[in-house]
Amino acid sequence: MAKRPTVLVTRKLPAAVEARLERDYDARLNPDDSELDTEALLRAAEGADAIMPCHSEGFPAEVIARLPEGVKIIANFSVGTDHVDLAAAKKRGVVVTNTPEVLNDATAEVTMLLMLGAARRASEGERLVRAGGWKTWSPAFMVGTQVTGKTVGIVGMGRVGKVVAERCRGFEMKVHYHDQRRLPAEIEKGAVFHETLESLLAVADFVTMHCPNTPETRGLINKDTIAAMKDGVIFVNAARGTIVVEDDLIAALKSRKIKAAGLDVFQNEPFIDERWADIENVFLLPHVGSATAETRDAMGFRALDNLDAYFAGREPGDRVA
Ligand code: DGY
Repeated sequence: MAKRPTVLVTRKLPAAVEARLERDYDARLNPDDSELDTEALLRAAEGADAIMPCHSEGFPAEVIARLPEGVKIIANFSVGTDHVDLAAAKKRGVVVTNTPEVLNDATAEVTMLLMLGAARRASEGERLVRAGGWKTWSPAFMVGTQVTGKTVGIVGMGRVGKVVAERCRGFEMKVHYHDQRRLPAEIEKGAVFHETLESLLAVADFVTMHCPNTPETRGLINKDTIAAMKDGVIFVNAARGTIVVEDDLIAALKSRKIKAAGLDVFQNEPFIDERWADIENVFLLPHVGSATAETRDAMGFRALDNLDAYFAGREPGDRVA
């Protein structure tokens, strides 16, 4: 019988995903979910044919260069691929895949949670109740911003951005967006296209980020683009922390140029800037956009479909390098 391919799985994955891995591969699982630093990762990859990592493991060019010869594919358990140097992988002949589509709904849900949480001061309210500080009620108490009927500015109308647009329509929001190109009318569904980011920012009551982390989007939200936003805007980011210059966002939250923010992603996760803990008008989540049981299963199956295709000699459906 031919030897089954060996797959290094860097994190603990859902039971059904691990069961399929063990059924079809010589799977090196991580039942304790222990974090692998670069050296541990490279050691664990010795003799493996494939790696199934998450965005929590980095594959910059120097790590790609040191991968054991046998590793032919990195089948990511993530849609984002900014933790992998795709050019270096391509040069080395290592195939890279991701898991698009399957996390659109979960990420759009968290986007709405962030939008509502920021606008309706959910963190402040929760802290107050838990600390036993809720002593009164009056019409002036904990007044937030209404979401219904407002203008949302979606930056990046890709797979997740389009689902967010649908959910925002459920709140009767006017949908505006900026992307590299305008969508066909049947997909746009009346959303207003802005050729420039600045033009979008000038009209949006809510700004929500749905672009990938690329050299072009890194630091896209900075003091200049914040200045282009309406005063009192609500800002939401469930994409990547690197899109935002955090010093500038913190300054804008303190000055109330940005009235409130909802953030699921940060620079330097999970060791985020300590200042976030003290900023009252921000609703914080720990990068859980895709963290539902249904989506985690679907991400694992999608990554496995890519592995199966590769080892069957077919082109993986979600090849990015
Ligand atoms: C993704 O899939 O990119 C999510 O951010 C979780 O890793």
